[in-house]
Amino acid sequence: MSAERAVVLLAGKVHPRVRERVEANFEAVSVDTADITTLSEETRKRIRGLAAATRISAEFIDSLPNLEVIANFGVGYDAVDAAHAATRNVMVTNTPDVLSDEVADTTIGLLLNTVRELPKAEAYLRAGRWAAEGGYPLTSLSLRGRTVGIYGLGRIGLAIARRLEAFGLPIHYHTRTQRSDVAYTWHPRLIDMASAVDILVVIVPGGAATENTVNADILNALGPQGVLINVGRGSTVDEPALIAALADRTIAAAGLDVFADEPNVPQALMDLPNACLLPHVASASVDTRNAMADLVVDNLIEWLAGRPAITPVPECAGFDRASG
Ligand code: NAP
Ligand code: 8YV
Repeated sequence: MSAERAVVLLAGKVHPRVRERVEANFEAVSVDTADITTLSEETRKRIRGLAAATRISAEFIDSLPNLEVIANFGVGYDAVDAAHAATRNVMVTNTPDVLSDEVADTTIGLLLNTVRELPKAEAYLRAGRWAAEGGYPLTSLSLRGRTVGIYGLGRIGLAIARRLEAFGLPIHYHTRTQRSDVAYTWHPRLIDMASAVDILVVIVPGGAATENTVNADILNALGPQGVLINVGRGSTVDEPALIAALADRTIAAAGLDVFADEPNVPQALMDLPNACLLPHVASASVDTRNAMADLVVDNLIEWLAGRPAITPVPECAGFDRASG
């Protein structure tokens, strides 16, 4: 099969470099939303590849009878029904590793901003309050003497842990399987880790297995000096429970890059002075997003040329190219 003649669907608001390289290598077709019904049946039958920047449901996959590969823009692919794609022998790829350091850097920035109130201190200076009122109030929180628990110690969790080690902080983690290559304290149960640490960093994948697992019980266990940092997925945290816990000081503060219903952030969360909020920017530098875009397109090129995918998701890792 020749890659250059394949039809590739650009689904959602794709990164400009994905569009540019798909248009250079394939015949490109676009849909702005996940509403596949806007494409004719004839066009749908011609589509062999899909660059995904939106939710890709089982129905969406089934409406493309000759689809061979879905290349997701992002390491997290909870928006793609990969289990269903696998049953149809459709390869799914994601963008691991190329963003891990960027996301870990941002996590450290978000943690420092949350604990040491740096955005608020800068706003204080810019409002002329330093000269008018004196120094910004001392922060009640600090990283000094604290212990960190990382929920998810995969590629990004480990990059975060390595940075926090340099800060001199003891590190605990919760995963389903204990790692044999780290000396950090492992907790088989999230609740036990929440009780043992001061700062809980969430960097697990989204999806059913982690949905609302950071709930009122976990926040209670974290306690009144506790800080929650979420850079994984909004679905992992019970957002109403978090808002209540921040409002009544069940925990001290939260730093969030991800939300339950992006880009909609509840007003109640925005009103809280002890919430530090970012608009899902952990990987959002030009260099890192370009690297992600290249990996999306390189996966399409490889698979549609009859070669193995570069970064298949675990559900499709065993696919033989001949079965695709
Ligand atoms: P990864 O290498 O696959 O690591 C995932 C980690 O989570 C592993 O340690 C895994 O260990 C653990 N885990 C998975 N399911 C779990 C469960 N049910 N309970 C406990 N632990 C579980 O993934 P990654 O590359 O580090 O990326 C992690 C996630 O970060 C992505 O899926 C994405 O949602 C999010 N992310 C967000 C941004 C952003 O812009 N905010 C950017 C990049 C990534 P076990 O399998 O042993 O449980
Ligand atoms: C991106 C992410 O912001 O890789 C992920 O899982 O959440 C981020 O890098 C997202 O995938 C695309 O906007």
